[in-house]
Amino acid sequence: MDDYDRREFLSLSLPGFLGLLAALPALCTVATRANAADGRLPADAAMHWEAFLEAVAAEAAKQHLDAWNQDDYVRRIAAIAGRLHLGDPVLTKAMEQLTARLKHGKVDFQYLEERVDFGLCLVQFDVGEVIKPHDHPGMTGMILCASGEIETANYDLVEKPATPPADGHQLLRRAGSQLLKKNDISTLTAKARNIHTLSARKVTQLVDIFTPPYNEERSAQSRWYELAPEPRPGEPSLFEARVLNG
Ligand SMILES: [Fe+2]
Repeated sequence: MDDYDRREFLSLSLPGFLGLLAALPALCTVATRANAADGRLPADAAMHWEAFLEAVAAEAAKQHLDAWNQDDYVRRIAAIAGRLHLGDPVLTKAMEQLTARLKHGKVDFQYLEERVDFGLCLVQFDVGEVIKPHDHPGMTGMILCASGEIETANYDLVEKPATPPADGHQLLRRAGSQLLKKNDISTLTAKARNIHTLSARKVTQLVDIFTPPYNEERSAQSRWYELAPEPRPGEPSLFEARVLNG
């Protein structure tokens, strides 16, 4: 497609005008793709990969505003993710590499998009693979199950427990658990459900969006836990957890 700069749009000769007319279909296609999440597509239409990324980017940019509300944000991102066409070639190509990647014998992380405002990762599990409880410091997360079946449980850190656990331990309150199947979504924010654990019942692929994305500092601050197998006596949602790092 020919390039047209702002000046050419403002001051067009006849040949330029005719050239613009010729390029209009291509321009419209690009504009439609870029604005797919901005009213050009029906509100419930499936989104291809580029439109999906731009819709996420538009929402993620709002994190810099004073009024950013993480609960609203993860709801919006979840709604956008719910419209993602899971058969989009970008995604299916990444997912097709699953078998080879799983041969490494551990949960596989493949970043599909890394931006300043968010990171988008395809996480792939073999049957029975587990990610231990861990937090996401200062971050939100949206997990879309693209295939398979996986159990997830989320926890909140009890900041000042009435009865503190032993040294090197913390108290976690289970905030909920889900069995995620294809198209199911789980979310967390910096303040709610921020700690989670995942356990795959089947070969599973998840699309994770972290906002803001992991960086060196946030990775270093992240804590991993070993949960007590049973909750505290008489408190079915409270678990003592040994901090595995830090
Ligand atoms: Fe996580």
